[in-house]
Amino acid sequence: MNTLTTTPLAPLLDRLFEEAAAAEMDPAVADLPDEERARLMRSKTGYRELYGRLKNAALAVSRETATLLYMLARSCGARTIIEFGTSFGISTLHLAAALRDNGGGRLITSEFEPSKVARARHNLTTAGLIDLIEIREGDALQTLSVDLPDTVDLLLLDGAKALYSEILHLVENRLKPGALLVADDAAYCPDYLERVRSPANGYMSVPFGGDVELSMRIS
Ligand SMILES: C[S@@+](CC[C@H](N)C(=O)[O-])C[C@H]1O[C@@H](n2cnc3c(N)ncnc32)[C@H](O)[C@@H]1O
Repeated sequence: MNTLTTTPLAPLLDRLFEEAAAAEMDPAVADLPDEERARLMRSKTGYRELYGRLKNAALAVSRETATLLYMLARSCGARTIIEFGTSFGISTLHLAAALRDNGGGRLITSEFEPSKVARARHNLTTAGLIDLIEIREGDALQTLSVDLPDTVDLLLLDGAKALYSEILHLVENRLKPGALLVADDAAYCPDYLERVRSPANGYMSVPFGGDVELSMRIS
């Protein structure tokens, strides 16, 4: 028995993943030419425009990646987690379930779309996990630049792809050897990949499951 596979979280996740699949492509971005979409995904300044268009879309990690997040957070006994990119809170729910099953902890997550913050808060409340969560509303470049825990056991990067290196920089001095980093859709951020794939920078790193980069702090 664990929090992830029992009520109330398990049926809530089934519903949220079903809704996310049904609304896979938001009409607001379906019109965007592929090159423009790719440009905005890589842009360090156009991300507000892109995610504004996507404010009604869950954009959740895959079900496999979500389960992986729960397993990683459980196996490293995580007590402190930072998440860049909350959206409707699907990944947050998995990480919070792991914290609950680890005996408690703190998860700081960041989202700049107010309607998404409200939806995530509602989902986390429905799951009975809101007591473990601090949702920081606003641009993570600002909200994650202050008042972080002394140590961070796991960092999930799933906001604007072009900012992964900047967000890592904000959290890096809290990552002790063994801390885990999970970056979704990491192929969009070559500067981040270059950084975590170089052992000289203090990381071991492997691509995983097609769209995830899994890294570990080694020094
Ligand atoms: C891919 S979605 C996150 C999905 C979520 N992790 C999940 O699996 O359920 C990315 C989210 O990050 C938010 N976001 C992007 N850049 C951000 C930034 N600089 N600060 C705060 N939120 C940001 C977007 O509004 C969007 O909701």
